[in-house]
Amino acid sequence: QIPPQIVSLQDYIETAAEQVPAGHWAYLSGAGADGVTQADNRAAFRQYRLESRVLADLRGGHTRLHLFGADLQHPILAAPMAFQRLAHPTGEQGMALGVAAAGGLSVISCQASTHMDELAKGAQGPLWFQLYLQPDREDSLRLVRRAEAAGYRALVVTVDAPVNGMRNMEARAGFSLPPDVRAVNLDGCKPAAMSVPQGGSQVFDGFMRVAPLWPDIAWLRAQTDLPLLLKGILSPRDAIQALEHGADGIIVSNHGGRALDMLPATLDVLPGVVDALNGKIPVLLDGGIRRGTDVLMARALGAEAVLVGLPLMAALAVGGAAGVAHALMILRAELEVAMALTGCASLQGITPAALNRARGA
Ligand code: FNR
Repeated sequence: QIPPQIVSLQDYIETAAEQVPAGHWAYLSGAGADGVTQADNRAAFRQYRLESRVLADLRGGHTRLHLFGADLQHPILAAPMAFQRLAHPTGEQGMALGVAAAGGLSVISCQASTHMDELAKGAQGPLWFQLYLQPDREDSLRLVRRAEAAGYRALVVTVDAPVNGMRNMEARAGFSLPPDVRAVNLDGCKPAAMSVPQGGSQVFDGFMRVAPLWPDIAWLRAQTDLPLLLKGILSPRDAIQALEHGADGIIVSNHGGRALDMLPATLDVLPGVVDALNGKIPVLLDGGIRRGTDVLMARALGAEAVLVGLPLMAALAVGGAAGVAHALMILRAELEVAMALTGCASLQGITPAALNRARGA
């Protein structure tokens, strides 16, 4: 069922681009504005080369790690992505099944097109829940309680998208959600887009008027015992704020370049954020991870684990759960090869010394 010529994550993206209806693909793959940040996420990895080490004793090597109470076989997580039923009829269920089959962890989007409770019931592997703080705290709290009751093991609060990015690709393609795909878990929540007075600003009088603030993070921290990660942090100062407001971890992310264009590549800001936090809480990274060597580089620059978005959505579109499992297994195998040839027997063994600075980065 999976075309045999698909051997890399980029192959999945290119195949999906051919197979998925154009409007849907504009949403699934679309960057903000001109796509500079989306391209930079990828380009950032090309600044580095790896340091070869030969004849090292790597017997007993592995990619295991312990992350917020979960024992994982590898450090590659599925990023939260909205509306997965646009890609494949099995949607979030297919994604989670494929991820679990490949020994991974799924982060389920607040805007999933499948009920979060049902997903957890059928889950074969660990799940985290991605929360968009709602304009009404009671609505947020209801989502948190549902996540707790369903057995989600952490909350990922995405903080980089209180307003939508300039999704020019979607607009040009005339994309709108089909009636049978919607954010079912937000039924009953007050919408963020309020009516704006005549002559007012959609951004400031609409979205930002009800957007979450730092005190809401401290409030949320006090409501739940689940580990709390903030996703979408790029600035070292915000990373410190996250720590001070009770975050247990952060995810360095620019939303895959889908929010504000012209933000820096995540790999480029990672070292500054890691430095600022000084090991107090784990730092994860997403954006542009397409190869096992990318995972190794992110780890060498201080990321505990990485999340993968678009390639897994593409794999879901092309092959359903089997495609997702295949894509993750490719990435894991690539990581293992990269570790073997750079003399790293474990994730802990991947240090800045694994990077060769021949390209001057
Ligand atoms: C996303 N992303 C995202 N993030 C989030 O916190 N909540 C969400 O609902 C979504 N939805 C979403 C939909 C689609 C189609 C994509 C591609 C992405 C962002 C995602 O979690 C992650 O940050 C990026 O996808 C990582 O970059 P790559 O791996 O796609 O390059």
